[in-house]
Amino acid sequence: MNIPKITKIIESKREATDIKTITFHYPEEIESGQFFMVWMPDVDEIPMSVSYINGDIKGITFRKIGDATSALYKLKPGNKIGIRGPYGNGFKIQGKHILFVGGGTGVAMLAPAAEEAVKNSISSTVVIGVKNKSELFFEKRLKKCGAKVIISTDDGSVGYKGFASDAAKEILKKEKIDAVLTCGPEMMMKTLLDCCKNISFQASLERYMKCSIGICGQCCIGKGLRVCIDGPVFDGKTLKNVKDFGVYRRDSAGRKIQF
Ligand SMILES: Cc1cc2nc3c(=O)[nH]c(=O)nc-3n(C[C@H](O)[C@H](O)[C@H](O)COP(=O)(O)OP(=O)(O)OC[C@H]3O[C@@H](n4cnc5c(N)ncnc54)[C@H](O)[C@@H]3O)c2cc1C
Ligand code: FES
Repeated sequence: MNIPKITKIIESKREATDIKTITFHYPEEIESGQFFMVWMPDVDEIPMSVSYINGDIKGITFRKIGDATSALYKLKPGNKIGIRGPYGNGFKIQGKHILFVGGGTGVAMLAPAAEEAVKNSISSTVVIGVKNKSELFFEKRLKKCGAKVIISTDDGSVGYKGFASDAAKEILKKEKIDAVLTCGPEMMMKTLLDCCKNISFQASLERYMKCSIGICGQCCIGKGLRVCIDGPVFDGKTLKNVKDFGVYRRDSAGRKIQF
């Protein structure tokens, strides 16, 4: 399981500015919230959450930001990549009404979770928060699956003008929500945690990863929690005791980077 399996890209689809989904054949079972390590020889190996689960076909959705994601962006159907995993834990999809809050590319990994919730007859509202209209993706996909979709943009170019956390707060005031599931900028997730005093809460965290199997210690948060195997999804009770949540992360050399 910890050796990359070589697989061919089936489809490469542009979703929005600098954002693409690639799908590939990978029969291993995976839960929404879990991630793969994606290897491009001579470039890098990076963590990527699953964004599509369709039998033997899986997908990842990513923004082009550096060497590895730019290399992934250029790949075409038929090109090969190495995949290992799945790693980490998945979301617990429970309750009568779940509010999903995705900031930026965070909505990519929430989409399969929302689809699963709808399939299990759980009312699902998804807030997709992006900077502007050109970064919006997965709106149609989520509406099609039966979720209620609320868009928020920082510049007001579409939907609610403001942060996804503010749009979510309005929903929390009006509706009876049993659980909040979120992925996105950590400040946004921290704001949401502070609003969820009596509501079940799960957030997916990103930390620099090397081994992804709990050995190197690169992804530690709080008092020895490893995001790669204890997460990446953590519940609110755990996160309330993690002092670095929403405050800082560490780079590849272990240096603190403030959010
Ligand atoms: C569990 C997990 C799931 C993720 N899922 C997604 C996803 O679904 N879509 C998506 O667009 N991005 C996702 N990311 C982030 C993605 O892994 C990084 O953006 C990517 O590694 C950047 O690589 P790069 O070479 O293009 O950029 P670089 O220029 O090397 O780095 C850009 C940023 O990415 C971070 N980064 C670089 N390498 C790693 C690494 N090995 N581990 C963690 N962070 C790294 C850097 O700290 C920096 O902040 C996920 C990260 C984690 C930890
Ligand atoms: S990445 Fe090595 S312990 Fe998590």
